[in-house]
Amino acid sequence: MLTTYNEPRVLLIGASGQVGGAWQALLPAAQIVAAPSRAQLDLCQRDGLADALARLIEQTEPNLIVNAAAYTAVDRAEQEPELAFAINAHAPGVIARVAGAARIGLIHYSTDYVFDGRGHEPFTETDSVAPLSVYGRSKLAGENEVQAASAAHWIFRTSWVFGVHGQNFLKTMLRLAQSKDELRVVNDQFGAPTPASLLARLPLLLWRGLAQTEQPGWGLYHLCPSGVTSWHGYACYAIEQARQKGWPIKVQPQAIYPVTSDEFVVQATRPHNSRLATNKLAQALGMALPSWQQGVDEVLAQLEAQA
Ligand SMILES: NC(=O)c1ccc[n+]([C@@H]2O[C@H](COP(=O)([O-])OP(=O)(O)OC[C@H]3O[C@@H](n4cnc5c(N)ncnc54)[C@H](OP(=O)(O)O)[C@@H]3O)[C@@H](O)[C@H]2O)c1
Repeated sequence: MLTTYNEPRVLLIGASGQVGGAWQALLPAAQIVAAPSRAQLDLCQRDGLADALARLIEQTEPNLIVNAAAYTAVDRAEQEPELAFAINAHAPGVIARVAGAARIGLIHYSTDYVFDGRGHEPFTETDSVAPLSVYGRSKLAGENEVQAASAAHWIFRTSWVFGVHGQNFLKTMLRLAQSKDELRVVNDQFGAPTPASLLARLPLLLWRGLAQTEQPGWGLYHLCPSGVTSWHGYACYAIEQARQKGWPIKVQPQAIYPVTSDEFVVQATRPHNSRLATNKLAQALGMALPSWQQGVDEVLAQLEAQA
C-alpha cells in the first residue's frame, strides 16, 4: 500500500540492464524483493503479463515497481516495430495498470528520442514531442500508457546512458582507443551522457523525500547531468581521462576526428539536439545536478577497480 515512503521495497524489472544493474548496486539486496529475469517475466507476452505480475506482487509485497526494462536496440527497432511497441508501450501500460490496482508506486524510464531534436535549446517536460524513429515512437507510446493508468508514477526521460553494467558508447570508445590509431566520432549531436547510477540515485532521493512532503510531485521529469557535449566531446574527454589514469591508450588526441552524422549510415534517425532541461527535477530535489564529466570520472574509476 502507498502509505509508508521511507524505504522502498522494490520489484525490479530489467535487472540485467544498465539501469537495473545500478538499482541493484544502490539498494541492499533485502530491499529488492523481486528481480524477475526475462524468462520469469517476459514483457513480450500479450496475455498473461498482468496475471504474472499481480502474482509476483502478492508473493513479494513491494511498495515500488521500477521498470528498467526496454527494447533499446534503436536501429533494429526499425525492422521490429511490433516487438519494440510490445515491450516499450504495451508492457509499461500493463505494469502501470497492475501497479495502480495494487496501489504501488511506479518508476518508468523514457528518452530524449521522443523529441525531433530541432533547435539548440534544452527541451522541457512540456515541449512538443515528435519522435523521429520507431524506438522514439514506441517509448512515447509507453509514456502515454503509463500516464493513462491510475498508478502514482514517475517517468524519467534521460539521454545517452552509460555505466559499468552492460554495453554502452563509453565502453566501446575506451576499447577502440586501446586498439586503434584513429577514431571518427559524431560531433553534430548534442546532449548529456547520463550515468546509470544517477538514474537510480536521484529517483531514490525523490522517493525518500515523499515522506517529508504533502505534495508528492509524481509525474514526468527530465533526468540527466548538467552540461552539454557532443559524442565527439564525450569520447575525447573520456579517452583523455583514461590516458591520464595510465590506461594503455593508443589513439592520440589529434587522431580522434570529428565527423557529421551523415558519415555514419544507421537505420534510425537520431535527434541532433538531445539537450534536456532538468530545472523541474533540480527544484524537486532541492539540489543542483552533477556534471556529466563527474559521471564519466566515476564510471572510469569503477571500471578501473574492476579491471
Ligand atoms: N541506453 C540509453 O542510452 C538510453 C537512453 C535514453 C533512455 N533510455 C531508457 O532507459 C531505460 C533503461 O535502459 P538501459 O540502457 O538500462 O537498457 P538495457 O541495458 O538495454 O537493458 C534493457 C533491459 O530490459 C530487459 N528486457 C528487454 N526485453 C525484455 C523482455 N521482453 N522481457 C523482459 N525484460 C526485457 C533486458 O533483459 P535481457 O538482459 O534479458 O535482455 C534488460 O534487463 C529504458 O527505458 C531505456 O529506454 C536508455
